[in-house]
Amino acid sequence: MEKDWPVLSVVDLFCGCGGMTIGLLEAAADAKRRLRIPLAVDDDPTAADTFLRNFPSAGIECAKVESLIDGELGAPLTAMESRLPRKVGPVSILVAGPPCQGHSDLNNKTRRNDPRNALYARVARAAVVLKPAVVIVENVPQVANDHGQVVDLTACALEAAGYRVHLTTLDLRKVGVPQRRKRHVLLAVSGSTPSPREILDGLGGGCADHVRTVEWAIGDLEDVEPVTAFDRASTPSPENRERIDKLFDENIHDLDNDDRPPCHRDKKHTYRSMYGRLWWDQPAQTITTGFGSMGQGRYVHPTRRRTITPHEAARLQTIPDYVQLGLEAKRGAWAQMIGNAVPAFLTRALGRALIPHLTPLNDDDVAWAAKGVGRSSGHVTATPPARGTGW
Ligand SMILES: C[S@@+](CC[C@H](N)C(=O)[O-])C[C@H]1O[C@@H](n2cnc3c(N)ncnc32)[C@H](O)[C@@H]1O
Repeated sequence: MEKDWPVLSVVDLFCGCGGMTIGLLEAAADAKRRLRIPLAVDDDPTAADTFLRNFPSAGIECAKVESLIDGELGAPLTAMESRLPRKVGPVSILVAGPPCQGHSDLNNKTRRNDPRNALYARVARAAVVLKPAVVIVENVPQVANDHGQVVDLTACALEAAGYRVHLTTLDLRKVGVPQRRKRHVLLAVSGSTPSPREILDGLGGGCADHVRTVEWAIGDLEDVEPVTAFDRASTPSPENRERIDKLFDENIHDLDNDDRPPCHRDKKHTYRSMYGRLWWDQPAQTITTGFGSMGQGRYVHPTRRRTITPHEAARLQTIPDYVQLGLEAKRGAWAQMIGNAVPAFLTRALGRALIPHLTPLNDDDVAWAAKGVGRSSGHVTATPPARGTGW
């Protein structure tokens, strides 16, 4: 019986709509474990509400992470930090996807000197405060080039706290994500958990002989009748309507320079995929918050004269259909939550490798920590609804 499965606890910092926790939830169910989420933090109210809708028993805090984890690395715990472990209880896995706009090559203004980059190192401080058995931090590969050396700072602080740490840049096709997307992953483990290098080098979850394609992810949604805007593509400008028609009339996937707006011409090395059409038989390009606009990337549907819908973008992010992203949400909110999400298959693969080695919470811990943090009680644990085959 699911209700008798042992319980692990997860804290999710910068939780967004919950991509990282969803992957762990799936892996936990595979190992017959339930999850308790005593703390999930995001400062965006729509993201926090969405997380809570999917994990109604989570201890959600709509707040800045640095307002809860408010001390500096190496300094004694603050009053806030001293109280937090008593509220949160034992933590099996701490996951964090700090904002990555400051590191992204798409950000030409403040790249690598953005104060948001320091939020990455705050995860090490959270580990010192909450003492999780495992820490997983996800970001864009460019985080390794940050001027403040946040990755080194974080890894050193975690090692000083007794963790074994490994860093890698992972091609997410390896874990079955149907996107050409590379992500930086920091994994820190304690106790008798296998070496983090072994775990990261051995990650799987994709198909042995081929990569997953756009068709695998969204083939069944090609002609779905939109009941809500979730299954409706955004309306293109008249100019973009013409560009979409050209892609189909000429059966091409990339527009000539002359057909792009002047600001995108002559930048073919960086921006070649902009205004492009996806291929059925290949992975998608990285899904970003701009998936609804052909000027933001290769987001025109392979066979239909439109850009991809929020539902299709969520599928390409390996967010299962049972996840409720809020039918009342606005297109912009979906773009933020879906585009910012960490593909769930990444933490599903990590969870499958890690969870069998983690000691479940004992009954006293499960009962004692019943209050959780924030708006909701933290004691009811989550299991995923039945999943379709192939996911
Ligand atoms: C890359 S997204 C995280 C995605 C999430 N891990 C997932 O898998 O769905 C970063 C998130 O951090 C939130 N955020 C940015 N700055 C924050 C801060 N100082 N404190 C808390 N949340 C913050 C944003 O609202 C955004 O949802």
